[in-house]
Amino acid sequence: SRAASTIIAIDGPAASGKGTLARRLARHYDFAYLDTGSLYRAVGQAVLAAGGSPADEAAALAAAEALDVNRIDEMAIRSREAGEAASVVAAMPKVRAAILHFQRDFAANPPGGKAGAVLDGRDIGTVVCPDARAKLFVTASPEVRAHRRWLELKGSGSAASEAQIVDDIRDRDRRDAERTASPMKPAEDAYLLDTSNLSIEAAFGAAVAIIDKAMS
Ligand code: DC
Repeated sequence: SRAASTIIAIDGPAASGKGTLARRLARHYDFAYLDTGSLYRAVGQAVLAAGGSPADEAAALAAAEALDVNRIDEMAIRSREAGEAASVVAAMPKVRAAILHFQRDFAANPPGGKAGAVLDGRDIGTVVCPDARAKLFVTASPEVRAHRRWLELKGSGSAASEAQIVDDIRDRDRRDAERTASPMKPAEDAYLLDTSNLSIEAAFGAAVAIIDKAMS
């Protein structure tokens, strides 16, 4: 049988840079990587694609139960609409329960025979993997996150203003933090990493230092 998997939990708000960081950490430690937000996005997108409303709990639950993680349309789930739909279905306890098992199984038995897994999301350290070896909660001010998102969107030819993006981000934070089902919050034993004034390189260095210490 395999040795217990080493789990690294990376949580934080929208556009905090946690995805970039988590992906780099997975490469650095040669661990498997799971972007759990993509699961909620795929559920939201599936409901929209079927012409339904993300607020329709039966439709959202059916989509969550039918979710095939090997067939997620990586382009479609990145749209603003899919992100909005994701935050609506993510507030539903039954939807969360339907994808909890997949996340825990991925963490315990990382694909590719890897020795560990990095999961990023909102509730990895608190709910999905409370026994993770290392937990980071990655933040940055709403203004900094909006500016980063704006730079990203500008590169892809989007016309959204920075002010609109700050509003979107504040709305999303509120919805993610105020819902009763697994709200976004740092685990008590999570390290807070504020990247407002850090480059990607500096944030990565700080994260590795924290994780190395937790794993030694
Ligand atoms: O990180 P993201 O923007 O791709 O997440 C999309 C939505 O999914 C976001 O509104 C919060 C939700 N989510 C969640 O509730 N729990 C997770 N573990 C990951 C994402």
